[in-house]
Amino acid sequence: MTDIWTRLTEHRKAQGALRIEALFQADPDRAAGFSTSAEGLVFDWSKTGIDAKARDLLLELAAPVTARREAMFTGERINETEDRAVLHTALRNLEGSVILDGEDVMPEVRRTHERMRAFATQVRDGSFAGQGGRITDVVNIGIGGSDLGPAMAARALAPFHDGPRVHFVSNVDGADIADTLKGLDPATTLVVVASKTFTTIETMTNARTALDWMAAGVADPAAQFAALSSAAERTAEWGIEPNRVFGFEDWVGGRYSMWGPIGLSLMIAIGPDDFDRFLAGGAAMDRHFRSAKPAENLPVILALVGIWHHQVCGYATRAVLPYDNRLARLPAYLQQLEMESNGKRVAMDGSDLSLPSGPVVWGEPGTNGQHAFYQLIHQGTAVVPCEFIIAARGHEPELAHHHLLLIANCLAQSEALMRGRSLDEARALMQAKGLTGAELDRQARHRVFPGNRPSTTLLIPQLTPYTLGQIVALYEHRVFVEGVILGINSFDQWGVELGKELALKVAPLLEGKPAPGHDPSTRHLAALIRDARA
Ligand code: F6P
Repeated sequence: MTDIWTRLTEHRKAQGALRIEALFQADPDRAAGFSTSAEGLVFDWSKTGIDAKARDLLLELAAPVTARREAMFTGERINETEDRAVLHTALRNLEGSVILDGEDVMPEVRRTHERMRAFATQVRDGSFAGQGGRITDVVNIGIGGSDLGPAMAARALAPFHDGPRVHFVSNVDGADIADTLKGLDPATTLVVVASKTFTTIETMTNARTALDWMAAGVADPAAQFAALSSAAERTAEWGIEPNRVFGFEDWVGGRYSMWGPIGLSLMIAIGPDDFDRFLAGGAAMDRHFRSAKPAENLPVILALVGIWHHQVCGYATRAVLPYDNRLARLPAYLQQLEMESNGKRVAMDGSDLSLPSGPVVWGEPGTNGQHAFYQLIHQGTAVVPCEFIIAARGHEPELAHHHLLLIANCLAQSEALMRGRSLDEARALMQAKGLTGAELDRQARHRVFPGNRPSTTLLIPQLTPYTLGQIVALYEHRVFVEGVILGINSFDQWGVELGKELALKVAPLLEGKPAPGHDPSTRHLAALIRDARA
């Protein structure tokens, strides 16, 4: 551990039972001083245990970020285990040039973007039609980064939908595609196969099923397929015309890919102009990340708060709690972004990581979560740092009273988590109800909230394509900063390979074919399943 880590750990220990409320008493300006505002967003991290000394130490940790950040934006091969540059930022900042291996990558990025715009417009205005008429439904088939981003964003931006309906199929479980295709008309459906590699078994299996479904309804099924992929030769094998294939380079990681072709279904749903506003929001966050001083830099501050809670305080998970029903898929999206990026145990140089890597990320929208798992967050033995997200304005002026209640709940939760309720307060409540003696004590103890539970609040003006772009880019860069501080490669994902390989070897076992090398438990389970299916 470097000296800064030691000093941080010692400082945390020295804080002892310090309460967050005491930090507010000691510093009347804490609410503003421990809030970071930029680009119309406000990130309030005052309700955490980070005091001035912890903040200064954490900022020291961020020293290596500047050089690494420039390496990323300028196309150095910072994804060292795959020998790739990391340039998803080039997909949202369509101006200028980025030189990679002596060539400017931007003309091709712009060309593909224009082709996407043209195709999306044709689908939306009916000049690209199905064999039964205007496209009414778009089915995006993809998984992981080829699903979660556009699916999350399509839901988030529902008020901006003015194109065909969009559906997302990801799971190899046939239930997913069966339920989605039920009720759709093949003659007016466009299937978009989203797969960077065009080899992912789930996506290829679903795409084959969709092709068969389409073939039962139209004469030329492949004519209603589009492909979003880096593998042009494989898309050709599927008979998908090159003018409906939208490619991207290996320097766009799957979970960072929604800004380019993988965003096509979203673009068809909300229209190219709103899609460009989404890109503009992401690009604005890039400029902020690249230029703001660390102490005023939103992604850096989010990362440092994350590091404080996980690596310094040892809190195992973090909850993402958007008080916005349309952000219901944001936690799932962030699970991939954060856990696939930073869930590593080996540092960039191959040595064992000396610090815990990424926390478990989870969550649900408020207020639903309040009636489900908040009990544990308030009174359980584990501390779960909570990251609230709230928009000042909703999209339904006629339902403004709903939105006010939503905001009130969000603020009330962070206040309750910090303040808690003491035994004396709980006893007073029970006394008021007429309890006395041992029963009063017993009942009061159940009503105590320890408080001192950390939370942050990200405040946005309204959920729009632009602000969603800001939020996604903010979290992408947060993950990057955390990765740099931990010394890991946030852009590979070797941990998903073993299960994929073994699934191919388990399949014959289920069919009763020779399949050597499996462990007794797996063989036993496969035999039980074979019997049950016989
Ligand atoms: O799960 C591993 C992974 O490679 C993800 O990183 C990626 O987003 C997903 O699979 C889908 O890959 P593809 O777009 O190549 O089908």
